[in-house]
Amino acid sequence: MHPMTNIAIRAARDGGRVLTRYFDRVGSLKIETKQQNDYVSEVDRTSEAAIIKTIKRYYPEHAILAEESGLHEGSEFEWIIDPLDGTTNYLHGFPQFSVSIALRHRGELLSAVVYDPMREELFHATKGEGAFINDRRMRVSPRKGLDGSLLGTGIPYRDMTHADAYFGMMRDLIVDSAGVRRPGSAALDFAWLAMGRIDGFWELGLAPWDIAGGALLIKEAGGIITDLSGGSRYLETGNVVAANMKLHKVMLDTIKPHMSASLKE
Ligand code: IPD
Ligand code: CA
Ligand code: CA
Repeated sequence: MHPMTNIAIRAARDGGRVLTRYFDRVGSLKIETKQQNDYVSEVDRTSEAAIIKTIKRYYPEHAILAEESGLHEGSEFEWIIDPLDGTTNYLHGFPQFSVSIALRHRGELLSAVVYDPMREELFHATKGEGAFINDRRMRVSPRKGLDGSLLGTGIPYRDMTHADAYFGMMRDLIVDSAGVRRPGSAALDFAWLAMGRIDGFWELGLAPWDIAGGALLIKEAGGIITDLSGGSRYLETGNVVAANMKLHKVMLDTIKPHMSASLKE
């Protein structure tokens, strides 16, 4: 395995240990509101500090972009970190959340780890070397159309700018598929897509740390992830559609009629 992926795994396990340690006393955590429906707790911060400490021990000169502490400038290697993806779930004791870590170099994702500490499932990928769950190779599902497909999504709950467009897409995707799930941790949704638990996924308005790790998992598992126009600007726009190549096209075609002018990036 690539040494940098190895360090990402070590760091993700350090963050995950913090998440499991606090999980049975969520009721007594200190919680702050960043904006409407956007919370941060001491767990997010403690997990992030543990992850950054491990990365800095091995790669002190690398840059870091972490959700809670922002940009730490450094070399052309940049670690993109979500120390707790699924904070709303976590704070309700709903056991669906993850740690996401990706390494980017000159715009290319090189390593990715998404870790689910509740199920002890660790997903990792290195560019060109495939994607794995707990060291078993994973592939996206082969389902070709919406018929029979299980889709994942994130329903808007903070920023309602594109809510009408989103609910139009959702309606059309629901009627033609086997159903839609909203598990609540985008990074884990991507990992589950990479291993075929869900066939397709779409969401609007994500942040880079929600997407970066999962994007490499999907690509290395043989899938496709794009923005809503089918292009590669998903880390910038935050809008994503992901699936295998055939289903991805069907999803984009279903989504397209609902693209308001402001969504056409
Ligand atoms: C959130 C989760 C959620 C997605 C939100 C994200 P957070 O991340 O990934 O599934 O729908 O858009 O912000 O805030 O829990 O790290
Ligand atoms: Ca997140
Ligand atoms: Ca987070």
